[in-house]
Amino acid sequence: MKSVLLIVFSGTGNTLLAAEMLRDRFTEFGIRADIWDITGEGQFDPAEYDVIGLGYPVYAFNTPLFFLNFVKGLALQGNLQGKRVFIFKTSGEPSFPNNASSFSLMKALKNCEIIGDYHFLMPYNIIFRFPDGLVKQMYCYAQKYSALIAANIMTGNTAGAFVPISLFSRFISFIFKIQGPGANINGIFYRVNRRKCTLCKRCVRDCPSKNIRMANNRFHFGFNCQMCMRCSFFCPADAINIGILNPWRVNGAFRFEELKHNAAVDGNFINGKTKGPWRMYLAYFERLDRELSPHTSLLSPKSNHP
Ligand SMILES: Cc1cc2nc3c(=O)[nH]c(=O)nc-3n(C[C@H](O)[C@H](O)[C@H](O)COP(=O)(O)O)c2cc1C
Repeated sequence: MKSVLLIVFSGTGNTLLAAEMLRDRFTEFGIRADIWDITGEGQFDPAEYDVIGLGYPVYAFNTPLFFLNFVKGLALQGNLQGKRVFIFKTSGEPSFPNNASSFSLMKALKNCEIIGDYHFLMPYNIIFRFPDGLVKQMYCYAQKYSALIAANIMTGNTAGAFVPISLFSRFISFIFKIQGPGANINGIFYRVNRRKCTLCKRCVRDCPSKNIRMANNRFHFGFNCQMCMRCSFFCPADAINIGILNPWRVNGAFRFEELKHNAAVDGNFINGKTKGPWRMYLAYFERLDRELSPHTSLLSPKSNHP
């Protein structure tokens, strides 16, 4: 295996960050790895690559429709025919219906050899503010996990490569498909605070579904919002109101590297003594510990894991 193409959609940057971690790990192992951000510049030819990675953020226990349709398009054109493909998703919680988010994607990949379905825990950038300790823990685990994934793909190891998808989680995921039209409807209620707005139009340029336009000096939000939150999250003036979700809006990027190196922040936030709702994260970290322990020799010395 010589090359990997990581095809990614990322609203607020987490999935892109996971893709960058994977790219760096593959590169350290001497494998060419490129990232194709489907909302960015440039076009890549999957035929040129030995392995394809597909990365997306989980939205309401599903693959974002925007990304699913993109992959379906690639599959229909035969661009993924016979390819070895792995999935990597990011989500804020370790709850089991998130696992089923890849079900529809896998169906679209029926002409491919699926070699893994991996799940990164990354903090919500919007809606909830995660405690620094948990953010640090998620980030450090994501770094180790990316090394494990890269090693798995290289060696062909599929033990632990697939998150379990139960019938019940598929059912929950199916019910939550309502989020698609829900996002479209919520999107028309987005508003720009003209007192804060500097008219930089970054939101117009960045919107992956071209749902924001400016006419007669006014912003118009169409009926095609994916609820990726990119407009609000990256607005330099924090001027975008996100409809019914606005009361919960907590914009602001996490400074992952700063947290990682800040000794005052305890990165062992979730541990055996954790009580209450945070405890649901324990099983995720314990599973990764189990998966990582036999592979320590494969984890790159260069990757600076804590
Ligand atoms: C509209 C929306 C729906 C989400 N739904 C879920 C969900 O069902 N389960 C979950 O664990 N996280 C959910 N999240 C959190 C994201 O999956 C998580 O923050 C992800 O890492 C974001 O990736 P990105 O920064 O690449 O967009 C949701 C986030 C948004 C914006």
